[in-house]
Amino acid sequence: MSKKKVVVKWSPTFSCGIKIIDDQHKDLIKLINDMYNHSSGNPKEEREYFSKIIHRAVKYVKEHFQTEEKLMIITKFPGYHEHKKAHHDFTLTVIDAVKNFEEGKRFTLLDFTNFLKDWALSHIAFMDKDYANYFKEIATPKEDGSLSLERADLERL
Ligand code: FEO
Repeated sequence: MSKKKVVVKWSPTFSCGIKIIDDQHKDLIKLINDMYNHSSGNPKEEREYFSKIIHRAVKYVKEHFQTEEKLMIITKFPGYHEHKKAHHDFTLTVIDAVKNFEEGKRFTLLDFTNFLKDWALSHIAFMDKDYANYFKEIATPKEDGSLSLERADLERL
């Protein structure tokens, strides 16, 4: 059996300091690696794999965006609308790609995975870090180094 490649490795530099968000980002990176490992170049195999995982993956990404957006709303993050728009635009692009896939149009798993990886890493590094820095100013640090938003933090807003 061939060894699974880790194309994208989680790095502490990706960390937002918020456990639930970091865990969701780690799962997203796992999914990207799984997609790379199924990029065989065989159209039939790639189609079978993609049709099995894509709806679960879209649902998962939407839930992640909702988690972040809820945090932004309750903490009154000033960049909320811009960030939400980036999530929305990305979701529309993915939905469009899935529609093309389901209509039988040309599909290459590697191209889709590269797009997902580039978007996710750049989004985590810039936009997610932006709200993470904002949270760091108002949240309570916990013993394990992660951040917690407690009632007292929110009352300070
Ligand atoms: Fe982690 Fe803004 O998505």
